[in-house]
Amino acid sequence: MRKPLIAGNWKLHKTLSESRALAAGLADNLSDVTDVDILVAPVFTAISTVVDALQGSPIAVAAQNCYPQQTGAYTGEVSPLLLQDAGCSAVIIGHSERRQLLNETNTLINQKVRTCLDAGLTPILCIGETLEQRNNDEMLEVLADQVTGGLIDLTPEQIQRVVIAYEPVWAIGTGVTATDDQAQDAHSFIRGMIQGLSNQEIAAGCRILYGGSVKPDNVDGLLAQDDIDGALVGGASLKVEDFIRIVHFKR
Ligand code: PGA
Repeated sequence: MRKPLIAGNWKLHKTLSESRALAAGLADNLSDVTDVDILVAPVFTAISTVVDALQGSPIAVAAQNCYPQQTGAYTGEVSPLLLQDAGCSAVIIGHSERRQLLNETNTLINQKVRTCLDAGLTPILCIGETLEQRNNDEMLEVLADQVTGGLIDLTPEQIQRVVIAYEPVWAIGTGVTATDDQAQDAHSFIRGMIQGLSNQEIAAGCRILYGGSVKPDNVDGLLAQDDIDGALVGGASLKVEDFIRIVHFKR
């Protein structure tokens, strides 16, 4: 049985005081949730504040990025080791905004995934096709390339510790969501890919989140799909009531 995971990606939003208030609002309302894993990913500067505000709550904290080295002469970077030290348990890696705006490649993303695993953090590996790729019938090829590229050289035991987030680029921040069937088809394909890279048991246990305009009014249908094990939520994770409703998706 895969335990669902609802993750909030706050992106480049919220000051320290706003982050503290949002985290406190979530902690107040989600303290009883035990059947879903919950995490939020604030900006680097707010991580410690949010870790403090969520003390004693079931909500974990993730970072939105990391550098693929633990320490050294890498001015301006933040490592998984230091994120772990700051109270993070996971890192979002390879988000499409970083692939597009910062030219992150599968090779770099794979190094980040491995550095996170080395520091005991859960990598949340983001993959997804653009609208152009989908329209050109390249979706499966792109997803296969991103899954393989992100997980290359990992042992099955390491793959077991990775969470995948399928986020079609055309659905991120657009208000357009993949239909339940479109998302399920992609997730089932991704699970097949993971099986090819590990084995049936590990693929069956791997959590694959859907992301891209997940809202209170579409989460139930998406999470009812066999291969959708949770959500990576952007915009709707910035509002306490919306995120709470998403965590309380229909079981
Ligand atoms: P969105 O973002 O929910 O605002 O579409 C999701 C994401 O980018 O992780």
